Amino acid sequence: MSFDVETVRKDFPILSREVHGVPLVYLDSANSAQKPQVVIDAEADLYANHYANTARAVHTLGSEVTTAYEAARDKVAGFLNAPSRDEVIFTRNITEALNLLAYSFGNATWFPGAEKFRIGPGDEIVVTEMEHHSNLVPWQLLAQRTGATFRWIPIDDEGRLVDSAIDEVITERTRLVSFVYQSNALGTINPVQRIVARANAVGAYTIVDAAQAAPHLPLDVQALGADFVAFTGHKLYGPSGVGVLWGRYELLADLPPFLGGGEMIETVAMEGSTFAAPPSRFEAGTPMIAQAVALGTAVDYVTNLGITNIREHEKALTGYALEGLRGIPGVRIVGPRDNVDRGATISFTLAGVHPHDVAQLLDERGIAVRAGHHCARPVCVRYGVPATTRASFGVYTTLDEVDQLVQGVESVRRTFG
Ligand SMILES: Cc1ncc(COP(=O)(O)O)c(C=O)c1O
Repeated sequence: MSFDVETVRKDFPILSREVHGVPLVYLDSANSAQKPQVVIDAEADLYANHYANTARAVHTLGSEVTTAYEAARDKVAGFLNAPSRDEVIFTRNITEALNLLAYSFGNATWFPGAEKFRIGPGDEIVVTEMEHHSNLVPWQLLAQRTGATFRWIPIDDEGRLVDSAIDEVITERTRLVSFVYQSNALGTINPVQRIVARANAVGAYTIVDAAQAAPHLPLDVQALGADFVAFTGHKLYGPSGVGVLWGRYELLADLPPFLGGGEMIETVAMEGSTFAAPPSRFEAGTPMIAQAVALGTAVDYVTNLGITNIREHEKALTGYALEGLRGIPGVRIVGPRDNVDRGATISFTLAGVHPHDVAQLLDERGIAVRAGHHCARPVCVRYGVPATTRASFGVYTTLDEVDQLVQGVESVRRTFG
């Protein structure tokens, strides 16, 4: 392993607490990651020493806070290898980022100069069968509002996209393709460049849900080649309440606004308004100032650990966990069974035991995992299961914790006979 996990663990105060009288084993990072002390301190420091509203005040605190907020934008732009800082929009979370896009595309039907984003009857919107509801429902709603057809790329028995369907579903009728980089429900890592190339060939816009990719994989927007990429702060060891939408500047420049309000305008008159250039156009109202600043600190934290080191660390954990879980009679991995093109998120079922019972019994041993449909219900429908139990790893996860997971599941199996 390329970094010392025990040193990393010392950065996360919550990892020293106990649950049910035993040390916490936190295997729910895909749901939300724990926070290093530097991130907690960054948020507290902003409130304790610099707080005022951003971009509105001319006084010293107002200027300090604006500098800190804009510095966070610079950090995120660097993290994404974005060509311009003005391509980085702060949102509340990725759900808001994706809805922002869906509503902005919808507003193109009347917005001057936005003809190229118009979607209507005969056009198609494409997602995949493995989307989180955040990247599924907004597009269903857009299809309903515009009369477009909603389509999806199916998944195979192993939890991967059906490769031939990428070319069949994305056609000349496709206007946009929105898809997940790494699945939260299956762990699958999708071939982003392959999908983007197909979408480009038919002139469709591409949107990448990088909520699960950002904490685990290099996220270079120029290398990915998509038009828009979004992620959420709380899974990247940052605070809750902040997310990011990145978009190509030439597209953002013509994209209609989503929310109207303060700071997103150029001029306002009773007869009508004109709008600010990106990113301000898409940041109506007082933003999540402290959260954005602390997200900048989280980005620094991850960058310092090194995303390729993180990937290597988590890959080792994943291979070890898959092997251990596959060895337990009755365990079915829902998602790729091998450690190729998959991330550190493992969903499984245990024959004869409800996934919630598995999670509950693991919790009694101090092991936090998630059970449910993981906001990707069509995935459960696809595999004929009501829910799965999901263990997910992060920078602080150890091989010993994976052992405890495997022993815990084995013990649940024995308990239920
Ligand atoms: C792949 C994926 N997309 C979107 C989301 C939604 O994230 P948020 O609730 O922070 O908007 C999640 C959260 O689990 C996710 O895993």
